[in-house]
Amino acid sequence: MNEELRKRILPNGSAKFIFFGGKGGVGKTTSASATAIWFADHGYDTTIVSTDPTVSLSVVFGQEIGGEKRVQIKHVPNLCGMNINPKDAKGHYKKRFESMMGQMNSALGEETSQSPCADEMATFDQFVTFLDEPESQVIVFDTAPTGKSLRELAMPFNWAAYVQKQIMEGREMAKLMNLPENTNESLERDKERYERAMVALRDKEHTVFNLVMLPERLPIEETASAIAGLSEHEIPVQSLVINQVIFQKDIDGNPFLQSRANLQAKFLNEIQDRFTGLLHTEVPLLAQDVSDIDGLRQVGKLLYGE
Ligand SMILES: Nc1ncnc2c1ncn2[C@@H]1O[C@H](COP(=O)(O)OP(=O)(O)OP(=O)(O)O)[C@@H](O)[C@H]1O
Ligand SMILES: [Mg+2]
Repeated sequence: MNEELRKRILPNGSAKFIFFGGKGGVGKTTSASATAIWFADHGYDTTIVSTDPTVSLSVVFGQEIGGEKRVQIKHVPNLCGMNINPKDAKGHYKKRFESMMGQMNSALGEETSQSPCADEMATFDQFVTFLDEPESQVIVFDTAPTGKSLRELAMPFNWAAYVQKQIMEGREMAKLMNLPENTNESLERDKERYERAMVALRDKEHTVFNLVMLPERLPIEETASAIAGLSEHEIPVQSLVINQVIFQKDIDGNPFLQSRANLQAKFLNEIQDRFTGLLHTEVPLLAQDVSDIDGLRQVGKLLYGE
């Protein structure tokens, strides 16, 4: 376990947002679910949100977790789950967007919801709602593999400019058509929501961004590029979870494990040298899949202790 990580993720007064990002298959869903269960078990009102369109949360918790609203996780008191699904999100977003622009611009809402990045915009809009109105003490985000989640996070910048443009055009049009100017109110509100969400994402007290990786070549490179990409948006990565490490005590004379561990040792050294200034937490390679709540509780204890 990592005492310092535990200290950093505990909520101190306001809601805490905890992200798990990283390359495909490295253990994001496992780490996020284990973290969410750990908090719920410690009495915190917790929500786990997946921004990955796959059904991974439903599989992990053995129940339907959709994108309409959060659902109580049956076997874990204090824990709710939600899977932000671009299809459902698009419905919400379109409705909101159309009402936002009012009758005058409903045609524009139609056009926007068909644009190629409408899925991302809709997903992002729903994602912002969690940051803006947390409704839980702790919100844990299980993100899609690195590239996609970075795009989601970058959306507010296009969004802010886009929304600003709509506000300006709306004003012009209102003037031309002699309409009252207040048709832009909800757009202005959205712009503020996006800005507040970005402030929360950049604030180390509010948000802890973890990258999950394996001690292997490609995950190391992808981690480096994710750190650089996030820092371009001034979002600081605080911790690395190095997953599936073969611990010396588990080798027990097995030459296959020893040789894999030797290979990992080289990459573990490189991780130490390259990613300074971040918390590092190693999670052992377990003998079995982490596929149920008991397994996830075990991972939670490995990460944060009892
Ligand atoms: N420490 C571990 N020991 C053994 N198995 C593990 C460990 N961590 C994760 N796994 C297993 O590895 C697989 C991938 O993990 P997981 O689904 O959490 O990855 P992911 O990063 O969310 O993947 P994706 O990018 O597809 O969403 C799962 O079957 C999980 O049970
Ligand atoms: Mg996953």
